[in-house]
Amino acid sequence: MRVMVLHAHPVEESFNHALYDAVLETLRAKGHEVDPVDLYAEGFDPVMSREGRLNYHDVPDNVTPELKPYVDRLMAAEGLVIVHPVWNYGFPAILKGYFDRVFMPGVSFVLEGGDGPDKGRLKPNLKHIRKVAFVTSYGGDRFRTWIMGDPPRRMAKRWGWVTFGGWLPPTYLALYDMNNVSPDGLKAFIDKVKRVIGRF
Ligand SMILES: Cc1cc2nc3c(=O)[nH]c(=O)nc-3n(C[C@H](O)[C@H](O)[C@H](O)COP(=O)(O)O)c2cc1C
Repeated sequence: MRVMVLHAHPVEESFNHALYDAVLETLRAKGHEVDPVDLYAEGFDPVMSREGRLNYHDVPDNVTPELKPYVDRLMAAEGLVIVHPVWNYGFPAILKGYFDRVFMPGVSFVLEGGDGPDKGRLKPNLKHIRKVAFVTSYGGDRFRTWIMGDPPRRMAKRWGWVTFGGWLPPTYLALYDMNNVSPDGLKAFIDKVKRVIGRF
């Protein structure tokens, strides 16, 4: 399977980057064709400009030369793994900006039957991506995060389910309270990620 691995962490020596490396290594060992999209390393610009917003509905011109490689890579993927830390109960800005700028009309969805650029019924357009997994880490513990509604888990499982083509919701692999986890615990989570991603 062609698997795109999307990553958002600025520090190569970080635990989160180690998770990214584990995902890449595991998928390659299983014979998948892997496309690593390391947003920081590639210098992805997450900021939606005035022009970007004005052109947002202009299919296909909304896919500018700057965005085209990212759209092509997404459209070529059959599987997707997203590796990111939880920041302020959400995605790091660079990953949020990736979704804002790349997941646009004519790419991740189409609007059908409307009578204006912002109108119509939303139809998902990424049905070729059959398998999706999120791999993430939190500083907060599971209970405190649950009290807050755990937005990243909901985003992954609910938004992810309707956005992509799989029968089942995306796999969600999360390590909570990671700063209080022992080195053995951290390693055990990496091993779990390898085990689960190995069955991708
Ligand atoms: C800017 C920033 C915001 C954060 N916000 C949260 C948060 O809202 N909830 C949480 O559980 N952890 C939060 N954390 C902790 C990170 O999730 C945790 O440090 C990360 O998963 C660990 O990855 P790393 O050590 O590889 O950076 C935050 C960390 C940073 C740097």
